[in-house]
Amino acid sequence: MEVQLRIAMIGGGYVGLVSGTCFAEFGTDVAIVETNPDRLSALREGRIPIYEPGLDRLVAENVTAGRLTFGDDMAAAIRGADAVFLAVGTPSRRGDGQADTSYVYAAVEQIARVAEGYTVIVTKSTVPVGTGREIARIVRATRPDLDFDVASNPEFLREGNAIADFMRPDRVIIGTDQSKPGGTQRAQDILRKLYRPLYLLETPMVFTGLETAELIKYSANSFLAMKITFINEIADLCEKVGADVIDVARSIGLDGRIGKKFLHPSPGFGGSCFPKDTRALTAIGRNAGSPVRLIETTVAVNEARMQAMAQRIIAFAGGDVSGLTIGVLGLTFKPETDDMREAASITILDQLDRAGAHIRAFDPAGMQTARTVLPQSVIYCSDAVEVAEGADIVVVLTEWNEFRSLSPYKLKNRMKGRKIADLRNIWDPQAIREAGFDYISLGRPDTGRQP
Ligand code: UDX
Repeated sequence: MEVQLRIAMIGGGYVGLVSGTCFAEFGTDVAIVETNPDRLSALREGRIPIYEPGLDRLVAENVTAGRLTFGDDMAAAIRGADAVFLAVGTPSRRGDGQADTSYVYAAVEQIARVAEGYTVIVTKSTVPVGTGREIARIVRATRPDLDFDVASNPEFLREGNAIADFMRPDRVIIGTDQSKPGGTQRAQDILRKLYRPLYLLETPMVFTGLETAELIKYSANSFLAMKITFINEIADLCEKVGADVIDVARSIGLDGRIGKKFLHPSPGFGGSCFPKDTRALTAIGRNAGSPVRLIETTVAVNEARMQAMAQRIIAFAGGDVSGLTIGVLGLTFKPETDDMREAASITILDQLDRAGAHIRAFDPAGMQTARTVLPQSVIYCSDAVEVAEGADIVVVLTEWNEFRSLSPYKLKNRMKGRKIADLRNIWDPQAIREAGFDYISLGRPDTGRQP
């Protein structure tokens, strides 16, 4: 019988918790190391500190099966582990936009000190190109005697869909130091074994170099962010020339070389990855003397777009929102998450607040965090209809499913005004206009008219 694999996952945050739990579901013994005491006690009590559909059940099942444990003792978790995964945070550094790798390197030093026997150290966090090599240098300096390999295994999870993304990925990327004398077959074999359940799905596995794997993650995220930004600019153009962005997106997407996904216009992309990774890729490019100008532009266009969206709402209101009531549906950076990081709502609501608007808002999952990042004056409502109470304008910022099925008449009954700005194109313009609304959305005919 084959020996059960054991791994340690350093960091019980979003990536660590999801991938650790999914590895356990694959049959591996997983020890998640979390040093934040509040987070650790929540996890130990079966409370999941992030909003991810299905994760609580999967964690509970694997804890019960004895395959998943949580602790803060790094040495205990690492002892006897076939691989140690790094899933600690790499936030954007203030100023230069580079990813801050200090948590990664601090963890590596600790790992090197306590590791016993051959160890594969794997980065799952998104780390700048060159991090894997620096990790190897740190380990060699800390423990010259240790037999180890470094690997890069970037994660492509989407919030709200993370379990399915892990269990049925488009591909698995494994980067190892291909220049290492003697090769890295041993590390590759361990990682191949860990992902064995995916063989049934015929998931492509790409074995490549360390720097390549690191760059793949930034390239994938930046490309998607660029694709969204492209359709956002085409949506603006559609409004000017009377074209329909929905048909443009669908039609270009039918070309297999382009693909239909990530062509939905929006008030700007946000979240924990795209803004951070696009900024980091531009920094990597500049530092390497090979600027990635398309992504530099993507970053600038996306930031300007959020400001422009606030101005569009103000223009729609007649040029002045001072004293007006604006009802906002959706605050998170996308649906099915409680995450507010870099959400368009932050910039837009800040501008509307400064312009003197009274803001009423509702989000199915994000209001707790929203209170800490949005203007103090925002009034939080218990549902979508309450948002409309006395509102001059209702604005859609996140496309939660429950908003799609909302009757415009229910909103109308509560509203003072008759204006809807739908910045996620969730409603049918004709139906909304028939209900008696003045309606703008993104890139659809007659939606760009200034009042
Ligand atoms: C993203 C990547 O998809 C994932 O592979 C990576 O591991 C982490 O970053 P995530 O940030 O969870 O995942 O969300 P995603 O669904 O990709 O959306 C990111 C942002 O783009 C959101 O603000 C979303 O509203 C926006 N978006 C997405 C659009 O504006 N239009 C689209 O067509 C798609």
